Amino acid sequence: MSLAMIEDARRSGVTSILTTPHIRGCMEDAFVHELHKQAFQTVLDAKPAMDLHLGGEVRVTPETHRVTDRPEFTADERSKYILLELEFDKVPSYFSQVLFEYRLHGITPIIAHPERNVGILKNPEYALDFVRQGAHLQVTTGSILGELGESFEQCAHLLLECGLVSMLSSDAHNTTTRPFTNWPGAYEFMQEFEKKGNFIRPITANDVCTNNAAAVCNGTPLAPVDLDENAISAIRARLSQITPSTVKRKRFFLL
Ligand SMILES: [Fe+2]
Repeated sequence: MSLAMIEDARRSGVTSILTTPHIRGCMEDAFVHELHKQAFQTVLDAKPAMDLHLGGEVRVTPETHRVTDRPEFTADERSKYILLELEFDKVPSYFSQVLFEYRLHGITPIIAHPERNVGILKNPEYALDFVRQGAHLQVTTGSILGELGESFEQCAHLLLECGLVSMLSSDAHNTTTRPFTNWPGAYEFMQEFEKKGNFIRPITANDVCTNNAAAVCNGTPLAPVDLDENAISAIRARLSQITPSTVKRKRFFLL
């Protein structure tokens, strides 16, 4: 399956993949990374035509902020980035502390698919708060293309318009229901979005589709999301206009 996914990705124009298998951010799950490493090596041994990196999508738990010095939880073992995933239904009260702890240890948090979190859908200002705390937001290609439901699409577009999104990701899980193949569509969408110029804080298709993710893969610094007071006020005003009452999503299990 991994090799078939890599082939799909290659045909879709993808040149590098930072794989992010799920891992819970607690010490008991540290051994899972060893299993990921073994599986990753098996894929590497098949010599696929793709630049591959091993990372993880770290589920935030109350223990997460106590594992900041563990390399298995960062984007790869030399990296200064960590991809954090919130539970679907809320933003936990300790999450700001988690972000603070990572930043304190020189690790930049990247938040996976914020547009699919009910807490953020109900109160999008959380997204602004996270960015102001030094986190980067990563939105799923399927969300911006409307493949995962109307609420996620609306929130993804809102975050793009506010310039709060640093990168897109496929969130590919397989070759059928969650494939890589929507990358060309997502890139085209972003080019159109950029052309319209309907931004509070401008972002570019190349940055969110390529450059910023390349920085994470290569371990080079990611430009901080600069927000001056005017931008913050404008973003706040725009976010406050959105009050999604119910979460409408397509019926399959999202991780
Ligand atoms: Fe996820």
